Amino acid sequence: MGISLDCLRDKNLMQLKKLNIALFPVRYNDKYYADALSSGDFTKLAYYSDICVGAIACRLERKEGGSIRVYIMTLGVLAPYTGLGIGTKLLNHVLDFSAKQNISEIYLHVQTNNDEAIAFYKKFGFEITETIENYYTNISPPDCYVLSKLLPVPAAKK
Ligand code: ACO
Repeated sequence: MGISLDCLRDKNLMQLKKLNIALFPVRYNDKYYADALSSGDFTKLAYYSDICVGAIACRLERKEGGSIRVYIMTLGVLAPYTGLGIGTKLLNHVLDFSAKQNISEIYLHVQTNNDEAIAFYKKFGFEITETIENYYTNISPPDCYVLSKLLPVPAAKK
């Protein structure tokens, strides 16, 4: 069965909203969806045989000094479709696209008890760089880890 990725647009925004309701205990606000839309190719929906089953949604952040880092707001695949390589395809897309855009850092927050997601990200070279207590307000545990990955920055031209 084929897995394909598609860009987020106004027309398919509802797909991402439905996925998030099914996948996450958090309700995302309008800013989340505006950020996802404006991130362009950094946000993708995943289709498994024409059914929308997963997504990665990112926000681009400008750091002091002008460089841009990518924040993965959400990455999720519907339970019946996990273990098929869809999460890998979504994350690899963002890692590859970030490298092409000379992005130096990618980071995300994950709930401290989400062992499966933490193991998943570590396979791709993400490391726990911080623990934030009481990051979440309505879920237990309320604590999160910050997982970060630095990408090699091309050598400056001489
Ligand atoms: N059974 C066994 N192993 C699994 C399974 C499963 N059902 N799901 C994931 N894995 C592991 C395996 O170790 C696999 O490694 P392998 O390729 O060596 O076999 C690895 O994950 C990659 O598997 P994929 O199939 O590429 O990933 P998947 O499509 O299952 O997506 C994800 C992984 C996104 C973590 C998924 O489990 C998920 O959506 N979880 C619920 C939502 C979630 O917690 N998201 C992350 C929150 S943090 C954030 O969003 C910023």
